[in-house]
Amino acid sequence: MIERIKQLQAEVEAMYAANADELEALRIKYLSKKGEVTELFNEFRNVPAEQKRELGQQLNALRTLATDRINTMREQFEAAKEAADKPDLTRTPDPVALGSRHPLSLVKEEIIDIFSRIGFTVEEGPEVEDDRHVFGMLNFAPEHPARDMQDTFFVEKEEGVQKPTDILLRTHTSSVQTRVMTTQKPPIRVLCPGRVYRNEAISARAHCFFHQIEGLYIDRNVSFADLRQALLYFAKEMFGADTQIRLRPSYFPFTEPSAEMDISCNICGGTGCGFCKQTGWVEILGCGMVDPNVLEACGIDSKQYSGYAFGMGVERITNLKYRVKDLRLFSENDVRFLRQFESC
Ligand code: DAH
Repeated sequence: MIERIKQLQAEVEAMYAANADELEALRIKYLSKKGEVTELFNEFRNVPAEQKRELGQQLNALRTLATDRINTMREQFEAAKEAADKPDLTRTPDPVALGSRHPLSLVKEEIIDIFSRIGFTVEEGPEVEDDRHVFGMLNFAPEHPARDMQDTFFVEKEEGVQKPTDILLRTHTSSVQTRVMTTQKPPIRVLCPGRVYRNEAISARAHCFFHQIEGLYIDRNVSFADLRQALLYFAKEMFGADTQIRLRPSYFPFTEPSAEMDISCNICGGTGCGFCKQTGWVEILGCGMVDPNVLEACGIDSKQYSGYAFGMGVERITNLKYRVKDLRLFSENDVRFLRQFESC
């Protein structure tokens, strides 16, 4: 019997349970009514009287050891279960992965914010438009090349029928001007952000869709000086107080006179660098005084009212702000690119 006690003692010392069920199996194996330790107590009755004292002590010690080991393990399992059920409020929280805002959205919102401080509100219009709102009412001549299928996406009337209709994807946000002028009465002071489409081969410098923001201000006695002042304010807010602007004469069918605006190169500060092709200036938008023909086509009396308009590409401004050279990056959804704007 002494051998058996020693063997069981070694087993009990090495006893291991991975979970509460395994522990219960061990308890049954050693301590239940038919368990191996209990069996030894039954055999103890037949032990000669002179050995009873020593064996009895050893048997009791074995039972205590087995009971203690099992109770300790049970307590550990119970404590672990309780901890798993209860949230640990002292634990450092798992970092929640935050998304980042798209650079085009950041820039769009900054532009809106700047103009909203001088009274502009936001208006949006449809991306699928008709010829009248995109071209006709904006004084485009009937044979203007912008109406060509090479430049503009026309919407097919029936599937597979390649005949151009007068429904198209807008090629500029100037179309929202005509929507606003036909539905609102002056004074009008709106900013129209949106996506536009052109039939271009996709490359680093061109894409078949991009984003513009249009500005329109119609009231009595609006002058070119008002336009210049609003744009100077915008350039300084967007690119820094030292920014200079210059307006170069240009042509758009819907404005007269028309101009293109350059800002002093925000990389070299105007001294000339590779980015501004050594000129010190970079072009950022088109603008002008709304052509009286456009006002009349939209039902606004051009003798009483005048106004200015401007339009800029959001990708262009984003490129100037964040040096994103390849336009395709904006629509590829590569998180390695997008994550760089997390802190903006
Ligand atoms: N619609 C022009 C374009 O897509 C941009 C533009 C130029 C808008 C002059 C205007 C403007 O409102 O006055 O290139």
